Amino acid sequence: MSDYNTQNNSGTACFRCCFSFVLTLGLTALFMWLSLRTSNPVLSIQDVYIPALNKTLNSTSYQSIYLDIKLDNENKDKGIYYDQINITIRYHDQINATKPSQNIPISNYTIPGFYQGHKKHTRRKNWTDTHGLLPLDGMAIFRVDLMTGIRFKILFWKTKKHRINVGADFEVSDKGQKVQKKGTRLKSGVPGLFSGHSPGASLLVGFITFELVFF
Ligand SMILES: *[C@@H]1O[C@H](CO)[C@@H](O)[C@H](O)[C@H]1NC(C)=O
Ligand SMILES: *[C@@H]1O[C@H](CO)[C@@H](O)[C@H](O)[C@H]1NC(C)=O
Ligand SMILES: *[C@@H]1O[C@H](CO)[C@@H](O)[C@H](O)[C@H]1NC(C)=O
Repeated sequence: MSDYNTQNNSGTACFRCCFSFVLTLGLTALFMWLSLRTSNPVLSIQDVYIPALNKTLNSTSYQSIYLDIKLDNENKDKGIYYDQINITIRYHDQINATKPSQNIPISNYTIPGFYQGHKKHTRRKNWTDTHGLLPLDGMAIFRVDLMTGIRFKILFWKTKKHRINVGADFEVSDKGQKVQKKGTRLKSGVPGLFSGHSPGASLLVGFITFELVFF
């Protein structure tokens, strides 16, 4: 009987020790994950003007496009180093088109790389020349694709490079302006639960989940 009690006590002590060890490990992991967690910048098209589509202007010779892009670093305490940003504008389709959908690149330009502090946002407003055709009869759908690489600045070090490859369709009216007044968010083609996070962070999340489930 007493034998049994002793065994039981040491078993409890061992369990407690083990439990606090795992808990400490878990809290450390949680803390590390919270401080290393990064989210990609939120990129959006704020404004577009295509004079060639402006019916009132009645000038088809004007072959430029104006694009206003917003770059938003929502990280609380991480800066972002942007590589050179490549932007491609495509003519996608006529609204209510009878012809099959097209996808014709009409312009590409670059924005020089730069550093953006945490919780900062900035705009890049550019006029660029178009090549190839512009549709000149009213409402149309365009597409903007943006490609770059970014590194996060966490305290004194830089993370490895993350590829950013995002895009969005938007409608342009016969006044030559974006139909949707709100910003149009540029999105990645491959959305994922941890798309904004490094694999290391995902591993930590997995570990924490494991702890929550089993302890
Ligand atoms: C379209 O052209 C007209 C005539 O020049 C001009 O008044 C108007 O502001 C232009 N539309 C836009 C959206 O700029
Ligand atoms: C776009 O605008 C940025 C400043 O907002 C400028 O640094 C850059 O050179 C411009 N790019 C082109 C192709 O005009
Ligand atoms: C942007 O374009 C330049 C020149 O074409 C290329 O060297 C670079 O790799 C491109 N960047 C990305 C992220 O695709």
